[in-house]
Amino acid sequence: MNDFIINNCSNTLDNNLSNSILKSSNSYDFHTKQDYYNKTPLVNLDSLSNHLGLKNIFVKDESNRFGLNSFKVLGSTYAIHEILKKNPNIGVFCTATDGNHGKGMAWSAKKYNKKAIIYVPRDTSINRIKAIESYNADVYQLDLNYEETCIYASQKCDDNGWYLIQDASWDNYEEIPSYIMSGYLTHFKEIEIPSKTNLQSKFDVIFLQCGVGSWASSGIWYYLNNYKGVRPKIVLVEPEEACGVFESFKNGKRISPNTSFNTIMAGLNCGIPSKNAWEIIKNGCDAVIKISDSDVRTAMRQFYYPLGNDSQIISGESGAAGLAGLIKVLGFEKSNDLKKFLNLNNDSKILLFNTEGNTDPENFQNIIS
Ligand SMILES: Cc1ncc(COP(=O)(O)O)c(C=O)c1O
Repeated sequence: MNDFIINNCSNTLDNNLSNSILKSSNSYDFHTKQDYYNKTPLVNLDSLSNHLGLKNIFVKDESNRFGLNSFKVLGSTYAIHEILKKNPNIGVFCTATDGNHGKGMAWSAKKYNKKAIIYVPRDTSINRIKAIESYNADVYQLDLNYEETCIYASQKCDDNGWYLIQDASWDNYEEIPSYIMSGYLTHFKEIEIPSKTNLQSKFDVIFLQCGVGSWASSGIWYYLNNYKGVRPKIVLVEPEEACGVFESFKNGKRISPNTSFNTIMAGLNCGIPSKNAWEIIKNGCDAVIKISDSDVRTAMRQFYYPLGNDSQIISGESGAAGLAGLIKVLGFEKSNDLKKFLNLNNDSKILLFNTEGNTDPENFQNIIS
């Protein structure tokens, strides 16, 4: 049984609400005007790319974004800004989260002097809960998994008149997740913007890690919309114990995977893919690969103990998943279909994202020491 699926994608974008919100997004202008804005670095790991037989490995390092240690705050800042433009009187924002989204949302709500109520699933670590609480949010841990926690939060909002800022979409809940996806566009724009005279991306293959798929679909949308047929190949990476996109491809429709959800990759520990995200992913991702916790531990250590003159990167369990996916593909036999399809060789320019720093410092220390 393969750990990957190659998707013969149509490279089209459906004409729907999320496409029109993404198309009219001005998140880059919004973010770059804020006093808290910082552009995160694109790190070139020369020694590692040499060692792995590739031309370049670039890593967009999100371990310090707006003073937080994950890119997720890009989504909630933009969504809350858009919603408050329409309805400035909202008093309480609420969400379900396995950590990073909730922290970003609590931080954003505090900036606007709004109350944040956050629900976390049973597996969320105490360190992640404390990190969210440090931004004045009320955090409640439920004896539920991530998907069930989303449903619970949505019901609580209906019952109490709170405003749900969820980074996953479902039937009749698509506007806010689309604003969140639009917020993520900021960091894709920071990396490269095509010009009339140069429609060629700097990269051949991009690896994007997936939870509900909102972030990856934002990246796919960006490259499809701007680079059309000459876009880089895009590979999605998921934990083998929470592989909603992989299972959805296998089944030909969006489903919740029948897996244990027992993984150290907390940010990727999700069930059914987001509705909006799936519509983009199924048309624009080239492949999906599953990785294990052990694969990601190796990748975290690779980032932490760099080769030669490469910079050190502090990468959490979900942050290092893209590198883990790349290393896994490179380890396949020459004849492996995915390896052949991606044509990885000493001319290949790879883009990875370190989507989080040491968001759970205790686990991080255990893994790197
Ligand atoms: C660090 C990190 N990376 C990647 C992701 C994946 O984002 P999405 O759930 O939109 O697929 C998350 C989600 O929370 C995350 O926290």
